[in-house]
Amino acid sequence: MVQPHRMFFHYSEFPLSRRTLFTGTLIMLGIGYLFAMIQIYAAHSGRDGKPGLSAADIAVAYSGNPEATKLEAALLGPMSGMLPINERGDIIGWVRRGADPAEFEERIKSVIESRCLACHDGSNPHIANLDGVEHVAELAEIDTGMTLYTLVRVSHIHMFGMTFIFFIMGMIFSHAYVRPIWFKSAVIALPFCALILDVGSWYMTKIFPAFAWVVMVGGGLMGLSFAIQWIISMYQIWFYKFTARESSDEAPAT
Ligand code: HEC
Repeated sequence: MVQPHRMFFHYSEFPLSRRTLFTGTLIMLGIGYLFAMIQIYAAHSGRDGKPGLSAADIAVAYSGNPEATKLEAALLGPMSGMLPINERGDIIGWVRRGADPAEFEERIKSVIESRCLACHDGSNPHIANLDGVEHVAELAEIDTGMTLYTLVRVSHIHMFGMTFIFFIMGMIFSHAYVRPIWFKSAVIALPFCALILDVGSWYMTKIFPAFAWVVMVGGGLMGLSFAIQWIISMYQIWFYKFTARESSDEAPAT
């Protein structure tokens, strides 16, 4: 039997305190991941006008929709639950008729005031200001998707955040006994490659909407690696007795 690397320690060689720390961390990361999935779904599903999340929704989010405005995309997508369907139809109709300011004062302003201003009154710089026709009209122009500035901002947050998560995850998983070694290393490396693929394809999707598929594949690979590491780690922390070191009669590696 080949000796494990002298720096390798299995969970079962660690004291209970460290296994408890690993378990708590895994549980929190797992719940956090679920919330991240819900957030992605809530932010992007329905953007193409159809329910559910598809590559077309991702394409609209990044590259925009030449047939719709930001206001319309938001009303059909993430903001669709904020108002009754008939009022939504009123706003969309107003946008499609050319966002006339007089009609705004007459019919649209009161809807926006009662349904949207609670969050969109301009007091939060990260949420679009809908207070007044001049602000609403800006969002009633043709949707060109996320601005380059938004992509850059989200990229750096995403790369730092994901790297932290997968460093912690990989650190815990590195104490699992998994063979062949190349497979274990590949599982650890996968999310980092997927992250580059994912973030890189955001920019590509802005130019070529077909790259939305690559965004989805990148996200899927990250999720796959997360699931493999989580399940194997959790299982081995509590149910796997590591015996390779003791049962070997070869001299310990130096
Ligand atoms: C409960 C708070 C809340 C309410 C009410 C609300 N929104 Fe939003 N809205 C948000 C948040 C938060 C975002 C940013 C979401 C994001 O960036 O993922 C947002 C984003 C948007 C955007 C996208 C802006 C952009 O730059 O792409 C539009 C357009 C929008 N809302 C319109 C509306 C309209 C119209 C209403 C009323 C019918 C409304 N919202 C009601 C919280 C709210």
